[in-house]
Formats: sequence, structure tokens, C-alpha cells
Amino acid sequence: MTAEFWDQRYADRGYLYGVEPNAFLVRQRHRLDRGLSVLAVADGEGRNGVWLAGQGMRVHAVDLSPVALQKAMKLALDRGVTLRTTCADLTAWDWPEAQYDAVACLFLHLRPDARRIVHRAMARALVPGGVLIQEAFHPDQIRHGTGGPPDAEMLYDPETLAADYDGLLEIDLLDHGEIDLDEGRHHQGRAHTTRLVGRRLSPSADRPAEAAG
Ligand SMILES: C[S@@+](CC[C@H](N)C(=O)[O-])C[C@H]1O[C@@H](n2cnc3c(N)ncnc32)[C@H](O)[C@@H]1O
Repeated sequence: MTAEFWDQRYADRGYLYGVEPNAFLVRQRHRLDRGLSVLAVADGEGRNGVWLAGQGMRVHAVDLSPVALQKAMKLALDRGVTLRTTCADLTAWDWPEAQYDAVACLFLHLRPDARRIVHRAMARALVPGGVLIQEAFHPDQIRHGTGGPPDAEMLYDPETLAADYDGLLEIDLLDHGEIDLDEGRHHQGRAHTTRLVGRRLSPSADRPAEAAG
């Protein structure tokens, strides 16, 4: 989906996904220390990046939509926190490598070719031992219709994520299940998501999956 698509969505005056952080991210707070550098991938209007900054982390938020990032900056200002933002298409971004202690990616849904490349870039953006936290809609979400793209190709099951991160992350948590979503007007009701927490493995020549990209 294009920047124009997202800009139009975000042109609405309210915050589409609310101003409170994603519930799964909040439950992973114990894995995140104050002072960590965090990349908030596809951070949209900033509810997650701003919350992480409020928890004492140094947050870099990236998103395709300039309209969303303006709203994220306003939210940061309102909450009295600092947020560094970059407007970029993650499928064409010059990804930093081994820069961040944590990566948070909530509800980014890409087509299969772009998905694997972006996921592997997210993992490589981490320092060894750095943590990646991700939640996305599961293919079963199609029948709920309570959020996410109506295209099963853009929804992820645990096997897809495990394959994408093969050789790059040690998986701490990978599951899926139904939840009651209450995150703004666009994420409301019974939903089915996939959740992952992984730690960046040390880059090493003896991991063929990583060498293969
Ligand atoms: C469903 S919203 C989620 C926003 C935010 N993570 C949250 O949970 O509130 C998906 C976000 O992904 C962004 N996005 C989609 N494709 C992208 C791409 N190729 N590069 C950068 N951002 C993208 C959109 O602009 C949008 O803000």
C-alpha cells in the first residue's frame, strides 16, 4: 500500500489506532531497559514509539506516511518526550545494521516478497542479543474483519515468521491466538494475531541461512 493510501487514512483528525501502546508490546516491557535505543518500525501515529520514549528509551520511529509522522511528533510533544522520526519506505530504506538494542514492529503487513526482505533487515538492525518484538494479524483474521488487510497473503502465521528470521534470531516466544483488540477505531473486536519475541544471534559464518539473505 502506498504512502498516499496511508496519508489519506491518517488525514482523519483522530488517532486511528488510539494513543495508548499496543497491549502485547506493554507485556514485553520487562525485556526493555531504560536508555536502550529502539527502532519503532512502521510506527504510524506514534502510539508505540511515544510510549517507549516515555519509558526512558531513545526511540527512532520510521514510517512511510508523513501525515502519520506529523501526528506522532505532536503526540511526543504533548507527552513531553523526544522522538526521532524518519519518513521512508521500508522496502527501499538504507537499513542501518547492528545499531539498535530493540526493534518494535506492530501491525506492519507487507506482500510476501517485500515481507521477508524487511523482516530480515529488521533483525539485522539489532546488535547481537538485541530484542525484536512483533505482532501482526494471522491469516485467520480474514474472517474476523476487525483490522488488517483483507488479503491472506499479507497476514502472517508463526511458520512464516520463523522462516523469515531463520539464522538471524533466537526465538524466545512465537505463538498465535485470538484476542480482544481495543486499539483505536481501526483495531476493535475479536481478532487473531501472531506474536514473536526474538533475540539477535551473533552474525557468524557458520549459519548458512543468514548468508543466503
Ligand atoms: C496498521 S498501521 C500500524 C501503525 C503502528 N505500528 C500502530 O500499531 O499503531 C501500519 C503502518 O505501516 C506503515 N507502512 C506500511 N507499509 C510501509 C512501508 N513499505 N514502509 C514504511 N511504513 C509502511 C503505514 O504507513 C502504517 O503507519
